[in-house]
Amino acid sequence: MAAAEPPLLRLVLAVSLDGRLAPAAGGAAQLGGPGDRRVLEEALAWADGCLIGARTLRLHGSTCQIHAADLLEQRQQRGRPPQPLALVVSRGSRFDPDLRFFQQPLQRGLLAPPQALVGGAPPAGFDVAWPLASWASALETLAAAGLHRLVVLGGAQLAASLLEHDLVEELQLTLCPQLLGGGHSWLPAAAVLQASHWSLQEQRRLEGDELLLRYRRCAGGRGPAAIA
Ligand SMILES: NC(=O)c1ccc[n+]([C@@H]2O[C@H](COP(=O)([O-])OP(=O)(O)OC[C@H]3O[C@@H](n4cnc5c(N)ncnc54)[C@H](OP(=O)(O)O)[C@@H]3O)[C@@H](O)[C@H]2O)c1
Repeated sequence: MAAAEPPLLRLVLAVSLDGRLAPAAGGAAQLGGPGDRRVLEEALAWADGCLIGARTLRLHGSTCQIHAADLLEQRQQRGRPPQPLALVVSRGSRFDPDLRFFQQPLQRGLLAPPQALVGGAPPAGFDVAWPLASWASALETLAAAGLHRLVVLGGAQLAASLLEHDLVEELQLTLCPQLLGGGHSWLPAAAVLQASHWSLQEQRRLEGDELLLRYRRCAGGRGPAAIA
């Protein structure tokens, strides 16, 4: 049987005008306002699953959920679960069980190296765990599990890891009208990327002078027809 197409990955971030995703002091960043919240929820409504860097989860304690009634109804009408699967990416499997994440009404998954997943059963608090031996094999596993559209919720390390492997097809950036300075660029300075070109698919002025920019990878990426 032919292998399933790998999932489509859309990286969704709120960034300052100087390209930072967190203030200089770091911590749990809250850059976007209500306009950004809406487009973030639209992306979640599109997705089967979302990937979350373990550090982002530890700092925020929880993940983003869809709250908008119209988006929840849209998913229900399409026979989809209310929330996409929340997939934490980590090199380990230990998380504070008191994180609010473990009480959120959603399905939780973990992607971690095979050696971190011992005993077969998912670690406590997770509904499912898959090995992350390589991104290619992990994405194949996710596609086979029916996860065809993935939103990548950051942070910078996770984004870099996927971009370094040319695995992100869409960038959805909300430009927030702030200058933050400091070292928390949305891609770490150490990221080693092949030069790539991106085609603008959507620009939308949002509440609070925010600007949504949605880009799709050009050459080398899968064609537009694949991403309806
Ligand atoms: N503005 C925004 O839209 C936005 C969005 C998200 C996050 N943020 C901000 O970004 C900051 C956090 O970002 P960050 O770059 O420090 O951390 P991050 O990317 O959220 O998480 C890094 C961690 O994810 C795991 N990880 C990443 N790539 C992996 C790979 N290839 N294989 C296995 N595990 C992998 C590792 O977890 P382990 O350490 O468990 O091994 C790693 O330490 C926070 O300030 C947060 O508020 C902002």
